[in-house]
Amino acid sequence: MKIAVLPGDGIGPEVTAEAVRVLKAVLGSGQAVELVEAPIGQAGIDSAGDPLPEATLRIARAADAILFGSAGMPGDEAIPFAMRPGASLLRLRQQLGLFANFRPAFLFPELIGASTLKPEVIEGLDLMILRELTGDVYFGEPRGTGTNARGEREAFNTMRYSEPEVERIAHVAFRTARARKRKLCSVDKANVLEVMQLWREVVTRVGAEYQDVELTHLFIDAAAMQLMRAPKQFDVIVTGNIFGDILSDAAAMLTGSIGMLPSASMGAGTKGLYEPVHGTAPDIAGKDLANPLAAILSMAMMLRYSFGLAEQADRVEGAVRRVLAEGLRTGDIFQGGCRRVGTREMGEGVVAAV
Ligand code: NAI
Ligand code: MG
Repeated sequence: MKIAVLPGDGIGPEVTAEAVRVLKAVLGSGQAVELVEAPIGQAGIDSAGDPLPEATLRIARAADAILFGSAGMPGDEAIPFAMRPGASLLRLRQQLGLFANFRPAFLFPELIGASTLKPEVIEGLDLMILRELTGDVYFGEPRGTGTNARGEREAFNTMRYSEPEVERIAHVAFRTARARKRKLCSVDKANVLEVMQLWREVVTRVGAEYQDVELTHLFIDAAAMQLMRAPKQFDVIVTGNIFGDILSDAAAMLTGSIGMLPSASMGAGTKGLYEPVHGTAPDIAGKDLANPLAAILSMAMMLRYSFGLAEQADRVEGAVRRVLAEGLRTGDIFQGGCRRVGTREMGEGVVAAV
């Protein structure tokens, strides 16, 4: 098992260190694992003058899986895209062809009080949002800024999907649904956008190959509403890059803290990039305050998706449930009557439970 470890910036290194400790604990001495650490984001600029250094990209290409922390610094939006620490991740995903972003949203029963929604609305919640990751308005050309015919400043981006791009994410979606509850909801805006008409048409056509999966369609605005009103009606949701970005953050918050939520970005094979959903959290970085569970659960997804180690993944997820049941809480999920712990102690707790 060859794993590239890219801790990045802010709390990235802190939470990634705990994920690596749990990884070593769950694999024991029986598995040959090679971990290669490399800088990315601001750390890449500091050490190699590039947020995505050539050497880091090479290590990521050569690896079977990538454990990523987080990258970016507040205010870095002002830096041109290619040199922006926060954009290093977008470039890496694109370079590696990781087009399918899996973002599970599930509720740990112990954290039911951490959500802003009523317990009965979210109890037992377990859904998977599948977001297309390498197309859409984030990458569509033309894009830019300029001056229009009236001499006014303007800016533009292009929402664009090709048929093969929609086909491949649709296949991933149907296969994912097949392995779960055989229910897939495709989210688009086909009532307004041509590109989303193509999306709906292609998803529907691919669906003919998966007769055992129940396919429904929703417009993004209705989907957002339904996700808040009755999230348990969904099992797998598939959508494009920008709608998926927004919808998955909303789904994440149904379950409580962003510090709990893992993600996986996959390409055509088993190689994947695994990262917590959260960012670099500069407000709490370097203070041993960050919740490492999202990073640890991302590592569990790696065991499952890239290495087929379902039993070990189950053990990690079980260990997380156990530390929560024992009452260990970082600040972001703290509830009265529980024990407040830091990043390291939470990681140690999971190691012990594993
Ligand atoms: P953020 O996720 O870093 O932080 C949002 C809030 O959640 C903050 O109050 C933070 O303290 C808290 N939080 C986040 N992770 C936590 C954890 N593990 N434990 C406890 N509390 C946690 O998002 P924000 O503030 O919008 O972005 C900060 C920087 O991170 C920006 O430069 C942004 O570009 C970058 N970013 C990077 C991402 C990535 O690498 N994938 C994703 C999102 C943001
Ligand atoms: Mg987002």
